[in-house]
Amino acid sequence: MWGNYSRLIFLPFFCFLLSVNYYTNLALANIQCMKTRCNHNDAPTIQYPFKLQNIQPQNCGKIGFDLSCNENHQTILELPISINFVVKKIDYKSQEIHVTDPNECIPRLISHLNISSTPFHFIDNSNSNFTFFNCSSMNTALQSHYSSIKCLSSHGYHVYALNSTLQIKDVTLSYCTKLYDMSFVPESVIFSNEDQLVLGWDTSCGNENETENECSNIVSKSKGARKKEAILVPIVSCFGILLLVTVLYHIRYTTQKDKENEARIEKFLEDYKALKPTRYSYSDIKRITNNFKNELGQGAYGTVYKGKLSSDIYVAVKLLKTSTGNGPEFINEVGTMSQIHHVNVVHLVGFCADGHTRALVYEYLPNGSLQKFISTTDFKNHFLSWDKLREIALGIAKGIEYLHQGCDQRILHFDIKPHNILLDNNFTPKISDFGLAKLCSKDQSAVSMTAARGTIGYIAPEVFSRNFGNVSYKSDVYSFGMLLLEMVGGRQNVDVVEKRSGLGYFPEWIYNLLEQGDDLREHIEVEKYAKIAKKLAIAGLWCIQWHPIDRPSMQVVVHMLEGDGDKLSMPPNPFASADPAIMNVSVIGRQLHRD
Ligand SMILES: *[C@@H]1O[C@H](CO)[C@@H](O)[C@H](O)[C@H]1NC(C)=O
Ligand SMILES: *[C@@H]1O[C@H](CO)[C@@H](O)[C@H](O)[C@H]1NC(C)=O
Ligand SMILES: *[C@@H]1O[C@H](CO)[C@@H](O)[C@H](O)[C@H]1NC(C)=O
Ligand SMILES: *[C@@H]1O[C@H](CO)[C@@H](O)[C@H](O)[C@H]1NC(C)=O
Ligand SMILES: *[C@@H]1O[C@H](CO)[C@@H](O)[C@H](O)[C@H]1NC(C)=O
Repeated sequence: MWGNYSRLIFLPFFCFLLSVNYYTNLALANIQCMKTRCNHNDAPTIQYPFKLQNIQPQNCGKIGFDLSCNENHQTILELPISINFVVKKIDYKSQEIHVTDPNECIPRLISHLNISSTPFHFIDNSNSNFTFFNCSSMNTALQSHYSSIKCLSSHGYHVYALNSTLQIKDVTLSYCTKLYDMSFVPESVIFSNEDQLVLGWDTSCGNENETENECSNIVSKSKGARKKEAILVPIVSCFGILLLVTVLYHIRYTTQKDKENEARIEKFLEDYKALKPTRYSYSDIKRITNNFKNELGQGAYGTVYKGKLSSDIYVAVKLLKTSTGNGPEFINEVGTMSQIHHVNVVHLVGFCADGHTRALVYEYLPNGSLQKFISTTDFKNHFLSWDKLREIALGIAKGIEYLHQGCDQRILHFDIKPHNILLDNNFTPKISDFGLAKLCSKDQSAVSMTAARGTIGYIAPEVFSRNFGNVSYKSDVYSFGMLLLEMVGGRQNVDVVEKRSGLGYFPEWIYNLLEQGDDLREHIEVEKYAKIAKKLAIAGLWCIQWHPIDRPSMQVVVHMLEGDGDKLSMPPNPFASADPAIMNVSVIGRQLHRD
C-alpha cells in the first residue's frame, strides 16, 4: 500500500526547504530590525519599540513609535498633528525620550499637542490648566508677579501662562488679550527654561503596577517565547502540511481507485450489453466461481461451475481440461461465440486464457439442458406441455437458422442434441457448446472435415462417412430432425416406451404410424396435442432424410413449425434405401444412439 505513497517522499525535502525559507525570513527580519541610528555621533540608538519609519518593517516597532531622520541626520519624532521634535536621547531602561523644539519654543509647540492621542505622557504628573494671555508691557502688575514666556513674547508684548483656577479678580488683565487654554500640562513644561521636554512611554507590558525590571523580564520572556515560536512554527507547519498533503493524496488516490473500479465495471457492463466477451484472469475466475465451489456438471471437455458476476448476474463457467488439446476448440468457441447474438443461442459473457487455464464464461441458465426434460427416465419431475415443447422446438430451429444465415459467415454447429440445448427461466431454448462448430462462407456447398464430429445418433450420415455425400449445413438439419423426433418420442404421452423394444427403431415406428394415416390420436388423448406431436414428427422426418439434398433448410423447417400442421405433407421414407450398405450403417448409427 505504501508503494502508492512513494511519491510523497519529496515531502520531507519540501519541509526542509520550507524551514530554510522560514529561518531566512526570520534572520532577514532580525537584520532589518537591527538597532540603527541617524548618525554615528550623538544620535540616539533606535530599537524596539521605536523604528525607522518607512525604512524598517512595521513589525520592528510599536505603533506611534515612528522616528525618522531629517536631512541634517537628526532624529525626528513626529507627533499628531505635524508636531516635529528633535530627539536628543532615548532611555530605553527608564522608558523616557528627551526631545527639543528645533525652533526652541516648546510652549508654542505643545499648544497644539494633544498628548493623550500619543503613546507618550508628560513625566511631570502635576498637571494643571493654563490660560495664555498676550499682554502689553503697559501691564506692569503681571510683570512684577509672574514671569513671562520668553520665546512667545515679542518687543513690547509679554505672554503669560496663568493658572486657570485664578479668579479674574485676583489679577489685573488690562492691556491683555487671551490667546488660548491648555489643559493637563505640567507647569515644569511651561516654565522650565530648559529647552528640553521629557516624555515617558507606557510600559509595553501594559500593567502599571509592574516595575521596570518585571517588565523587561516579560519582554525577555516574550523574546524566549519568540525563540520557541521560531522553532515550533516550522515544525508544526511542516507536520500540518505533511498531514494535509498525505490526507489529500490519500483521498485523491482512493477516489482515483474508485474511479478505476467504476470504469472497469462500466466497461464490463458495456461489453455485457454489447455482448462482447470480457477477458478474465484466473483469479477473476476463482472469485467468480467462489473458488470452484458449485459444480454444475462434468464432461469430456472439463467441468462446469456456477458463478456469480454481480448480485444479479449468474454465469456458468466451463473450465476446460488442460491436458486435452483444447487449444483449437477453445479458440473456436470464443471466436465463434463472440460474433453471435441471438435469443436462442447461449451468450458468451467472457473467457479466460491465463497460463494453462482455459475457461468459458456463459450466461447461467437455471433450468439446465433439454435432455432432462425429454429423457424417459427424468420426465416425471420435469413435465413440459406440448405447447411448450412446440415453442422450444421452434426456438431451437430459429437459433440454428440464425447460425446458418444470420452472421457474415455460416456457423455450423455439428453437435445439435438435447444435451446442448439449455433452457432459461422461461424455458426459452439456447443452443450451447460450440466446441465443434465450424465457420464457412455461405456459398460454400461442402465443408472439408478431417474427422467425424458430433454425437452418435445425431450425426448426419455424410458426417459419419464421406461416402454418403458432402458435409454442409444440412448436417445440422439432420441433427435437429433427430432432436425433434427425440422430443416427440421422449414424451410419456406417446406411449412407446414399452412398445419400443418390439417396434424397433423409434423414428421408423413413427414414420410407419404416420404413413398409415394414424395421427397419433390413439396415443395422445387431447386432439390439439396430437396435432402438435404430429407436426413435430413430420418436420423431424423431413429433416432426417438420408440425402442432404432432400432435407429442408432451417428456414423451411421454421416455417413448418410455425405453420398449420395439417398442411404438411409426409416426407419420403427416410429408411427405405435401395442400398443395403447404407441401410446397415444407418441402423448401426441409430442403434448406437438409442442404447
Ligand atoms: C485628544 O485626543 C484624545 C484621544 O485621541 C481625544 O479623545 C480627545 O478628544 C482629544 N482632545 C482634544 C482637546 O482634542
Ligand atoms: C482643566 O480643564 C478641564 C477641561 O479642559 C477640566 O475638566 C478640569 O477640571 C480642569 N482642571 C482644573 C484643575 O481646573
Ligand atoms: C501679542 O499682541 C501683539 C499686538 O496685537 C502682536 O503683535 C503679537 O504678535 C502678539 N503675540 C502673540 C504671541 O500672539
Ligand atoms: C493652580 O491652581 C491649583 C488649584 O488652586 C493648584 O493646585 C495649583 O498648584 C496651581 N498651579 C500653579 C502653577 O500655580
Ligand atoms: C496595583 O496595585 C494596587 C495595590 O497593590 C492594586 O490595588 C491595583 O489594583 C493594582 N493595579 C493593577 C492595574 O493591577
